[in-house]
Amino acid sequence: MQISQKMNKAINEQIGREFGASLQYVAIAAYFDGQSLPQLARYFYKQADEERGHAMRFIRYLLDAGAGVNIPAVSGPKAEFGSAEECVKLSLRWEQEVTKQIYGLMELAIKESDYTTQQFLQWFISEQLEEVSSMEKLLTVVRRAGEGGLLLVEDYLAREGHPEDKD
Ligand code: FEO
Repeated sequence: MQISQKMNKAINEQIGREFGASLQYVAIAAYFDGQSLPQLARYFYKQADEERGHAMRFIRYLLDAGAGVNIPAVSGPKAEFGSAEECVKLSLRWEQEVTKQIYGLMELAIKESDYTTQQFLQWFISEQLEEVSSMEKLLTVVRRAGEGGLLLVEDYLAREGHPEDKD
């Protein structure tokens, strides 16, 4: 195995959090879908796919490093929401939290002089910059429009799409 037991465990925990994020975003997308807001729903379904992709990237890394994949139990997402702002605020908080978790993994990799994991994590550090920034932008737009103006947010998203659409 090319990484420490401690790093293996920490990455397995992160895999659980990424799948947890994916479920949370599906729940948010379903809320928007149920409110007949298809662009907001699409945005969050897409975000859920992204999170699954992050989990899969960690899984691939563990396999490449000859380490064990042990996916932890994931608790159910919050399912009831009172407003679009609440959904986006929760998502932003989540992304800020994930950024801290990724930094925590990087700090462990630095402490262990684990250069391979440091290099692997660089992608996630750039990804988190993009994810926090795009969620902050969406929160600004949702707040500006207000709950009565969500169709303006729909127009905005129909024009701008999801950040990954541009890749
Ligand atoms: Fe996997 Fe949105 O961080």
